Amino acid sequence: MAKLTEELILGALRNVREPELHKDLVTLNMIRDLKIKNDEAVAFAVVLTTPACPLTAQIEQNCRDVLAQIGVKQVEIEWRSEVPPDQRILDQLPVTFHNTIAISSGKGGVGKSTVAANLAVALAQLGAGVGLLDADIYGPNIPLMMGVDKLPKVPGDKITPALAYGVRLMSMAFVVDPDQPIIWRGPMIHSAIRQFLTDVDWGQLDYLVIDLPPGTGDAQLTLAQSVPLTGAVIVTTPQEVALADALKGLRMFEKLEVPILGIVENMGPYTDPKTGQKISFFGEGGGKRMADRLKVPFLGSVPLDPNVREGGDAGRPIVAHQADAAAAIALNQIARQVAARISVLNLEE
Ligand SMILES: Nc1ncnc2c1ncn2[C@@H]1O[C@H](COP(=O)(O)OP(=O)(O)OP(=O)(O)O)[C@@H](O)[C@H]1O
Ligand SMILES: [Mg+2]
Repeated sequence: MAKLTEELILGALRNVREPELHKDLVTLNMIRDLKIKNDEAVAFAVVLTTPACPLTAQIEQNCRDVLAQIGVKQVEIEWRSEVPPDQRILDQLPVTFHNTIAISSGKGGVGKSTVAANLAVALAQLGAGVGLLDADIYGPNIPLMMGVDKLPKVPGDKITPALAYGVRLMSMAFVVDPDQPIIWRGPMIHSAIRQFLTDVDWGQLDYLVIDLPPGTGDAQLTLAQSVPLTGAVIVTTPQEVALADALKGLRMFEKLEVPILGIVENMGPYTDPKTGQKISFFGEGGGKRMADRLKVPFLGSVPLDPNVREGGDAGRPIVAHQADAAAAIALNQIARQVAARISVLNLEE
């Protein structure tokens, strides 16, 4: 075997592709701090485009394989991440969040807020900087789901968001009196949403997850006009009735030129862990069929699980409190998919 050199090692690593980005790790500048310890041992850092990278294990195995071919027996990898920002946001607004993810649905009650809260917590648990903006002016229930009831009192020019499960949180519920009917008119929605984006001290965020009210109304339009949306996630239940509504939402985002990150099927088939019995309360496979029909990615199906609802009501998101439940596993995988798609979008531009 030839003596190990940096050139030789990088040459070998050029054969490892980032599976989502379809380029090799060296070209993508993902290999840093390479150290040759001796003729058989190397160490380096791999800088991923998201801490929620779904394919770390595969990348690691591929690195080990190509390095073994040039005689490296010991490989030490340190994982780091730098989430690429959505350049349109940085160009347009003086804000510290780098990507925005709108969670939307055509129909109410399909689990948007549940998906938004769990997605945010999942991304934060993976090590990303995450904010959650509850922009549902009609029924802001993210604080309940995250177990927070008010903003912290911090003096300053900007509003300090609440913090729960590592996620910075701001909600319409914090600023409207719950006993008053909310008669918001277009301009009021507009200024409230703008303020939430620019007057809240979000800190450095990789992802700002935004929970929207159902439908294709003012809030959606205002939001899309106030801040570039990196992408939208459409939540649907498996039945066809809900699909028709989700379709409407999807068309709206297309019109607003917001990329669709994919479709999440919520309240999908649930398998009872004790009996093994499968229950498809709202049918099966509708989310996947819709994604196929519309040629957008299918991000996964979250089972209808009583623990999801109980966790939501108790302010204990399932991904934080019951990570081994099928619903939590599905939500974690969806979070990784979403993060990966955002990296691809930002690096393609
Ligand atoms: N996968 C699931 N399994 C069991 N219950 C769920 C699931 N997803 C959501 N729920 C429950 O269904 C109800 C509606 O969910 P959620 O509030 O998230 O929907 P939404 O789409 O945000 O509704 P709205 O349109 O009112 O904003 C909640 O009680 C929630 O806990
Ligand atoms: Mg909701």
